[in-house]
Formats: sequence, C-alpha cells, structure tokens
Amino acid sequence: SSSNTESWGSRVGLVLAMAGNAVGLGNFLRFPVQAIQNGGGTFIIPYLVCFLLMGIPLLFVEWSMGRFGGKYGHHSTPFILDSMSKQAFWKYIGVFGIFTNLAVAAYYCYLESWTLGYIWHSVAGTFDGQTRDEVANFFTNYTSLSDAQPIIFWVICLLLNTWILSRGLSGGVEKVAKIGMPLLILFGVILAIRGVSLQPGTNNALYAGTDGLNYLWTPDFSTIWSPKVWLAAAGQIFFTLSVGMGSIQCYSSYLRSRDDVALNAMSAGWMNEFVEVCLGGAIVIPITVGYFGIDGMLELVNKVGGLGLGFRTLPFLFQQWGPFLAIAASVMWFGLLFFAGITSSLAMGTPCMGFLQDEFGWKRENAAWAFGATVGILGLPTVLFFNYGVFDEYDHWAGTVSLVVFAFFEIILFAWIFGMKKGWEEITRGADIKVPIIFKYIIQYVTPVILGWVLIASMPANWDKIMNTGLYAQIAAATDPAVIANLEKTIMYQNIARIGLLALWIGIAVLVYIAYRKRLREGRFTH
Ligand code: PHE
Ligand code: NA
Repeated sequence: SSSNTESWGSRVGLVLAMAGNAVGLGNFLRFPVQAIQNGGGTFIIPYLVCFLLMGIPLLFVEWSMGRFGGKYGHHSTPFILDSMSKQAFWKYIGVFGIFTNLAVAAYYCYLESWTLGYIWHSVAGTFDGQTRDEVANFFTNYTSLSDAQPIIFWVICLLLNTWILSRGLSGGVEKVAKIGMPLLILFGVILAIRGVSLQPGTNNALYAGTDGLNYLWTPDFSTIWSPKVWLAAAGQIFFTLSVGMGSIQCYSSYLRSRDDVALNAMSAGWMNEFVEVCLGGAIVIPITVGYFGIDGMLELVNKVGGLGLGFRTLPFLFQQWGPFLAIAASVMWFGLLFFAGITSSLAMGTPCMGFLQDEFGWKRENAAWAFGATVGILGLPTVLFFNYGVFDEYDHWAGTVSLVVFAFFEIILFAWIFGMKKGWEEITRGADIKVPIIFKYIIQYVTPVILGWVLIASMPANWDKIMNTGLYAQIAAATDPAVIANLEKTIMYQNIARIGLLALWIGIAVLVYIAYRKRLREGRFTH
C-alpha cells in the first residue's frame, strides 16, 4: 500500500470508468459474432439467463470483494482473495485475475489497433469504388500483414495505452471515459438506427436490416441444452461485463470502505447491457445481413471466424453515402470502436500495475511500462500468426474458459468460505439501493451450481480442443497438400499459444509466491 494511494475523482467519473471498463469491443464485435456462431435465436435465451443468474450476482460479489480488499491496501486479486480467507491457496486462484487481463489485452490491443488502421484507410480512400466482396477481403489482406502498417498501428495503440495508464486513474483513465462514453453512445444510436432501417434497394442493400434482427431475436429451442451454447453465452456475459477477470475488483479496490457498491454496480452493468443488446445487436448483424443475407453472413463468420465481421462489412455501407459522408461515418464507427476498446484495455492494465505497486513498491509509470511490454510480447504471436487462429485461441482460453473457472472459485470463496452472512453485509453496506434479498440465495446456491455445470459440461469440448481433434479430422478429410500443410501449421501455432498462456500463468504464480514470502519476511500481513 506504500506507493499506491490513488482514488477516483468523482462518482460520475467512477461509474463512467466502470462502464468504460465493461463497454468495449465485446459489445459491438464479439457479441454479434458469438450470437451468430451459436445460432442467433438459440443464443439469446441462455445469454439473458446467464446475465440474470450469473452476471448480476457476480457484479455484486466482485464490486464488494474489491472494496473489501482495498481496505487492506490490495489492488489485485491474489491478495484481495487472500484477505478473505485463512487458507493459503486462494492467492493462487487470484493469479487468474492478473493472468486473464494480460492475456486478453494481448489480443485485444491488436483488435483495438485495427480501428486506427481502418480510419486511416477510409481517409486515404482505400475503399473508394470497391465492391462488397473487395471490401470484405480487404480485412484478410490487412491481417495477413501485406505491409507493415498494421504493426505500426498496433505499436501506436500499445504506447497510447501505456501512456494513459502512466497518468493514473483520475488523471488518465477517468478523463478518457468521460469523453469517450458519451460520444460512443451517440455514435452507436445513429448507427443502430441506420442498421435497423436498412431496406433492400436503398444504399444498394439486398436485404432488410430487420431480417438480421429477426435472426437474433426469434427464439429457437432446438439446441437450447447444448453445453457449447451455454459456455459461449456464459463466456460472453463474463467477457462483456468484465466479470471473472479481476479488473472490476481492481477498480473497486480504490473505493472508500463506505462508498456504495450496489447501485454503482447496477448502473455500470445495465449500461453495458443496454449498449450490447440495443446498440451492439443492432449494428453489425443487421448491416451485414443487409448486404450478404443470413447465409452470406454465416459463411463470412464460419470461413474466417473471429471478431473481424464489423470491419468486413460496414465500410461498404459507408461507401454508399458518397466520399465525404463515407469518411465521416468511418470515423464515427471506428472512432466508437476505438473509444470502446481503449477504456477497456486500460482496465486490463490496472490489475498487474496494482500488483507491482502494492507488492514490490513500483512507481506507477514503471508499472505501466511493464504492462505495455508484457502485452507487446504476448501479443506478437496474435499479430504475426493471426491467420493461424492464434488470436481466437487466446480468446477461447483467456477470454472464455478462464473467466468461468475464476468466477466459479471466487463465488465459492465469497459465499462459502468468507461466508454469505459477511458477504451480504459487504454488498449492502453503504448501498444506495435496496438489494433484493433473493440475490443472497442466488449468490449462495444458484450461481455456483450453474457455473459448476457449465464448467463440467464444457470439458469434453475443451478436451477436444486441446487434442486438436477437429483440426486432425480436417486433415484426414483434406486432399490438397497445401491445405494439409496449412492445417498442420495451425496446430503447431495453437499448441505454442497454449503453452505460452500456461507459462504466463505459472510466471504470475511465481511472482505471487515471491510477494508472499516477502510479506512474511517483512511482517506485513494481508489482513
Ligand atoms: N468488457 C470488455 C468488453 O466487452 C472487455 C474487458 C475484458 C474489459 C477484461 C476489461 C477487462 O469488451
Ligand atoms: Na462489454
């Protein structure tokens, strides 16, 4: 706690920073793609159930855990968790809360940098006169690094994050959120209206934007019990709310011990869902369907996967508005994404910075550089081997699975070890709303059971992934030697990515162990 005595500037600033943490590329790019990959109407029911039964309870839990640990001068999950129990092992569960942020930041910052690249290309007129398919293919070009530009924008993005982080919470993070969040909502509303009102024949669209909405909102019960869909829905809820990550605990550890958490948590959480469901669900899917139809959209997503859909399809729409408006609209859309992204990647930087400051007395600036450098090293494979699925591999293990694992353990700690009686006191102390008592029981019984079910039920699919079962099947079915060579390379890079992530986790655990020994030597207790 020596060098780390920051706090938030104001309540509005805190809520906007927390909303900025949550509202991110997940809302505009990841949500639509997850929904599409999991059948649209099949996805949305598990998604909403996960929000109510896991998302909201975990927001209460994480906000209050963070404020609790903050009292003892902890700003990252290893020692926040440690302060809640006498058992030594919880601090190693807390390793996830640093690990995930670094590993997600590693691919997230690359994604964030595409927005700068696309603004650049829109202004430079790259898309002028291109056909629908040319615009879509440009993304493949961009990410296959046919020139050095994507790397330059990526480095700019890393430096920008590092610089803002080095300016601290109220001086850096909070300021960016106060400018970025209102702009983002304004741009989002404009684009959502455009998406939903797209009609065949206008703007050269072939289908209606509302076809896309129907695809998403017509419930489909045929695969409702598929564990894969539930893991994806749970993963998306965690990712989008930033729960199961450690970044909420970090932000709320800078609260004072009697500050409200209940209302703040709900404000930021519901703001995120509004942006995701009402804006994020009404831009990429309707506009893509408008130009490609449902089948075309499915093909785009399945062929190349991942989060690039909003880059492949929107610039073509903007082209229909003439050169000047096309630039304005691109700046609006990619600017929106940029603000959404940076307020989130800043949040990913704070847990590891807090850890270095608390445990090793690092100065904030140096801690920010440590974050920038780590993310640069970890991110390099996602940049260089993007087309071998490394990026999606990070997103699966760090951006989906480990959130669910961490959330499962932390809620057991909170409700059963720390104890629900004390836990409920933490949630309600200083609360500016009356938290419905039902959440006490949901947190204690329902959330852990669903989390446990999702974890166990998704094990076979995860095992197949580790064994590369799907890729080997593709190899067995392929005849073209070039295709086979490509698949073999994919397997190799994905294995390397997994080993790298594992090494990161172990590295952080070793640092936690060293920090713990140091505390014992110095007689600094965690609580
Ligand atoms: N919630 C953010 C999004 O939706 C992502 C994020 C993950 C932010 C982890 C902070 C920490 O894009
Ligand atoms: Na989000």
